[in-house]
Amino acid sequence: MPSATILGTGAALPAKVVTNADLEKLVETSDQWITERTGIKERRHASSEETTSSLSVLASRRALEMAGIGPRDLDLIICSTISPDMPLPSTASFIQRELGARSCCAFDLAAACSGFLFGVTVADQFIRTEKAKYALVIGAELLSRYLDYKDRATCVIFGDGVAAGVLGPAATPSGILAAEMHTNGAYADHLYIPAGGTVKPASCETVRARDHYIKMRGNELFKVAVRSLEEVSRRVMEQAKVCPDQLDLFIPHQANQRITEAVRGRLGVSSEKVYSNISRVGNTSSASIPICLDECVRSGRIQRGDLILMAAFGAGVTWGALLMRW
Ligand code: UT7
Repeated sequence: MPSATILGTGAALPAKVVTNADLEKLVETSDQWITERTGIKERRHASSEETTSSLSVLASRRALEMAGIGPRDLDLIICSTISPDMPLPSTASFIQRELGARSCCAFDLAAACSGFLFGVTVADQFIRTEKAKYALVIGAELLSRYLDYKDRATCVIFGDGVAAGVLGPAATPSGILAAEMHTNGAYADHLYIPAGGTVKPASCETVRARDHYIKMRGNELFKVAVRSLEEVSRRVMEQAKVCPDQLDLFIPHQANQRITEAVRGRLGVSSEKVYSNISRVGNTSSASIPICLDECVRSGRIQRGDLILMAAFGAGVTWGALLMRW
C-alpha cells in the first residue's frame, strides 16, 4: 500500500515578539541565563483577538495552497493541541467550519509536543488504507495563555505558533518510510496543568492556587527527553535501514537547544544537518516541528528526494519519530 507524503505546509505566527529583555522585566531572570540554558532569544505571544483556531485557519490555507487542493478535498482534519479554543467542542470543528471543508472526520489530538508527529502517523494510516485521500494535520498552540509569570522556569520557554501539513498519497518511493509513537504515563505529572478538568474543575480556589498554569519538572524531563529522542530516532532509522550519515535533515522538537545538541551528538548527525529555530520562536509544543518543516520547505532547505528525520518528545510523556523521503 502506498504511504502518505506531505504535499504542502503552512505556518502562522502571531506578530507580537517577546524578547528575553521583555521577560527580565516580569520575572527574576536574565537574557544570559535563558540563552545559555535554552538557546531561546525571543518567542511570539498571541494577541487577545488571535485564537488557536484563527491561526490554524491561516496556516491551513497556506498549506492547502502549496498542496494545490481546496478545503473541500479534505477527508480528515486532525488538530494537535493542548491549548484548544475551549474544552468543547474540538478546535478541529472550528477549523473545519472556517475553512469551508466538507463534513469530514475532524478531531483534536492531545499528545503535547509529540502531537504533530502523532497526527501525521495517524493520517498516514488512513491514507495507506484508502480511508482518506487528503488529510490536514495541524500543530497549534497558544501556550502563552497558560504561562505563569511567577514561574521563571516555564514562562521563558514556551511560545505561540501554528503550522499545518497537507498529506496525500505518495508517489513511490517518496513519503513516510517509518514512524513510531510512544507514551509513558509514569511521567504524567512531570509536565501538566492541574486544574480545569474533572480532577480540579475551575473555581476561585484553583485560580488563587495558580493551578490553571503549566507546571514542569524540567530538569528530570531533560534526561528522559534526550534518551527517548535518541532511542526512537535510531529505531525508525533501523526500520528503514538507513544510517545517520544518510540523512539530509534532522528536525528535532525545539524543546531546548541543549537537548537538540545532546541528541545530535549521540546520534552522530553533523551540525549542518540539524535544523533549529528555537532562538526565534521558543518551544511551541506541537507546532514546533511543523513550523520548522514549513521554514525549511519555503526557504529551499528541503529538496525533493531528501531524507528527513523528525523526532518529538513532550508531556504525557509522549515521544515519537518519523522518517520520510521528501
Ligand atoms: O517540550 C516539552 C518537554 N520539555 C522538556 O523536555 C523540558 C526539558 N528541560 C529543560 O529544558 C530545562 O530543564 C529547563 C530549561 C526547563 C531548566 O534548565 P535547567 O538547567 O534544567 O535548570 P534547573 O531547573 O535545574 O534550575 C537550575 C537553576 C535553579 O536555581 P537554583 O535552585 O540552582 O538556585 C532555578 O531556579 O536555575 C534557576 N532557574 C532560572 N534562573 C534564571 C530556572 N529558571 C530560570 C530562569 N532564569 N528563567
